Formats: sequence, structure tokens, C-alpha cells
Amino acid sequence: MHSPLLNPSLLAGDHAHLAASARVVADLGLPWLHVDIMDGKFVPNLTFGPETLAALRRHGIDLFFDTHLMLAEPHLYVDAFAKAGANSISIHIEPSYDHGATLARIRSLGCGAGIVLNPDTPASSIESFIDRVDLVLVMTVQPGFGGQAFRQDMLPKLKTISSWRAARGLNFRLEVDGGIDSSNAVECRSAGADTFVTGTSFFKSADKAAFAASFAAL
Ligand code: DX5
Ligand code: ZN
Repeated sequence: MHSPLLNPSLLAGDHAHLAASARVVADLGLPWLHVDIMDGKFVPNLTFGPETLAALRRHGIDLFFDTHLMLAEPHLYVDAFAKAGANSISIHIEPSYDHGATLARIRSLGCGAGIVLNPDTPASSIESFIDRVDLVLVMTVQPGFGGQAFRQDMLPKLKTISSWRAARGLNFRLEVDGGIDSSNAVECRSAGADTFVTGTSFFKSADKAAFAASFAAL
């Protein structure tokens, strides 16, 4: 089982000072940064593009960029995000495109490949891909906005995917994203999650070192 990994989401950072927000994460010694990319089509919101990642790299941010593509046509953008400095690229199962070819392309670009499913999408929809991914992301809110309430009813889905991982001897990370805080993270950990995206709860935390320590202890 993977060690617990706290993965702050840049979406909840200061959009006029993104490098400074990323630096807060790096200065805590945390290795990962979750970067949410939205297209106003797959989700009703807009965020960053490849140039944002490239600019963070130019500003000396060397965190592992866990890039969550909420795009209707993610296959058209994986090359650009890999070139811009993404380390992991996750794509949603819901839109129709060649998911298998896109996951393979992400790996061929030297990035970890992730598959993501929305709260209303059943675990079975991604089952045929779990042997060729480095990460499975279970959305615990409807994607598009930070600050929403955690969906408790996603715990059985985590357990199902976690049990497939164990039964098949697979090693992908199991990530949760949406409304995660240090209390519901305990339940997610028990259900098999090891990678915890936190936007609002991280950036609003008054004592970020203590917040990070609570996740390290999960
Ligand atoms: C939502 C994004 C999340 C978001 C989570 O669509 O995928 O990564 O940043 O934010 P919180 O932790 O505030 O729910
Ligand atoms: Zn996300």
C-alpha cells in the first residue's frame, strides 16, 4: 500500500500569485501539486493552460505536477501539457475519445497516466483500464469548482477499486479529489485511498505544517 500523500490543489491558491502559492507547498516539503485544467465545456468553469505550468517551472517550482484534465477533448492536449512540465496527466472516462490510446500516449511522453471518474460514473466504467494506469482518481464532488461538500457515498466506490487493485496485484495510486479535509481523509484512507487532493482545506488552514502532519499520519 502506498504511503499517504497530501496533494494541495493550486485551484484554491492565489491566481494572481500562483508561483507564490506553489512555493507554500514546496516550503512544507510536500512533493506534489495538483493542477486543475478546465475547458468551460466538460465542466462549467475555466482555469489554467499549459503555459501556466511552463511559467511555474520558469519560476523554479520543481514540484511533481499532478495534472487533472477536465476537458471534453483531452487527447488533443496531452502533448502540450507534457511539454509544459506535467509529471502525471489524468484524463476523464466520461467524454468519448480513445481512452486507451491517450493513456498510452501520456506514458510514452514520460508522464504517469491517470484515469478519472465522476461521482455518478460507476467503477465498472474504468475497470478495463486499471492495469495500464499509474493513478485512479475518484472524484468526491462533481468537478468544476472548489469548496464543495465531500460525497460520503463515494466510499464504496473506493473500496471496490481498492479491492481490484489488491486482487490483481496492481500498484496504481488511488486518489480522492473534492471536499477532502483531515477528518474525511481518515475514512477515505480506510477505503483504500492513498493520495489526497486538498484545495480549500489546505489553503484555508492556519497551521499548514500541522495540517500536513495529520495527512502523513493517516
Ligand atoms: C474540482 C477540482 C478539485 C478542487 C478541489 O473540480 O478537481 O481539484 O481543487 O477543491 P476542494 O478541495 O476545495 O474541494
Ligand atoms: Zn482536481
